[in-house]
Amino acid sequence: MPRFADHLYHPGPDNPFPGIWVLQRRLGRTIPHRLGSNEGLDMPHAALRRHFGDAMVEHAYCYGDSEALGVRERLSQQQGIPLEALLVDAGADSLLALALRAVAPAGQSVISSAGTYPTFGYFARGQGCRLVEVAYHEDEHGLSPDLQALAEAAHQEEARLVYLANPDNPSGHLHTDDAVKALRRALPEDCWLLLDEAYHDFRPDADTPIAREVMPGVIRCRTLSKAHGMAGMRIGYAIAEPETLYMLMKVRIHYAVSALTLAAAEVVLDHPDETRQHIADVIARREALAEHFRSLGAEVLPSATNFLGIRLSSAELAGQVHGELLAEGKLIARPAHPDLGHVLRISAVADALTPGRLATLERALQDG
Ligand SMILES: Cc1ncc(COP(=O)(O)O)c(C=O)c1O
Repeated sequence: MPRFADHLYHPGPDNPFPGIWVLQRRLGRTIPHRLGSNEGLDMPHAALRRHFGDAMVEHAYCYGDSEALGVRERLSQQQGIPLEALLVDAGADSLLALALRAVAPAGQSVISSAGTYPTFGYFARGQGCRLVEVAYHEDEHGLSPDLQALAEAAHQEEARLVYLANPDNPSGHLHTDDAVKALRRALPEDCWLLLDEAYHDFRPDADTPIAREVMPGVIRCRTLSKAHGMAGMRIGYAIAEPETLYMLMKVRIHYAVSALTLAAAEVVLDHPDETRQHIADVIARREALAEHFRSLGAEVLPSATNFLGIRLSSAELAGQVHGELLAEGKLIARPAHPDLGHVLRISAVADALTPGRLATLERALQDG
């Protein structure tokens, strides 16, 4: 069994404020008079009402449901994931931080790919972990997190946790479920696999049974930032065994997801057709963009996400194109990690397909 931080094996800490929603459920009745939470219930909110309307303001007054039951119920019903295997937090980022807080105290080693989604390393270093990075597997076919190297490093460094983004950012690479399971089996028994599935919804097999699998020793993190278009509202969810989520809940910031965000997520989840259409549109744009750049001779990396990675002939050229586009007021992404400085990443939004929008990149590809 993978280990948590030692202090979490003692009783507590207990969340001092699970909140009125949890209490109402526990008592089995509503509590109509909120006289104990020191909220600003008498605030008229004239300015907010003028700006956003009454419906939004009703969600501003009170602390939200720290157990996010409404969102979890919808996720559970729609995806067939057991309710008790779901935890909601303020985006996948918050879930990465939460997992680190619960399993990897300062001084412990954690492993990731050199150049992958950098927020993981930022959080790991920020709490004093030893971050050990292994190189990507790179050849003429593409760029992918090297699962064997991750497992080897986990053994060598006696790591508490291995981070894998699948599909990966910035490569867009999708490892098969069998490969991910083989990685889990190859890890030391006391080491966690933190599986960042922020782009899960764009997988071609997103609706197959693997999507709902609760894997022992694995914390899967997903988000409503991408396919559901809610990045600004900050909400995501973890899928893990209930005993694992129990430990994560000990150190979770209980009101990190606002009442407004929970309400908005419930509305969006109640309209899955809109999300499904959005995903289909994004994938169509991504493929159109890939086709366009391939026709110009670019090395477009296969992507199972809402973006495209393009591999340039050198980091210098990628840096130059990135800088020129920025000077034109166009921000594409270039990994800050020196190992992946030759990769540019473009979101598959309609603006990217506007003729001429990325002309500077097109010229560089044709010249190079
Ligand atoms: C791999 C990966 N994980 C997590 C996130 C952050 O997701 P959230 O907005 O839910 O915090 C991103 C966003 O770009 C990402 O690429």
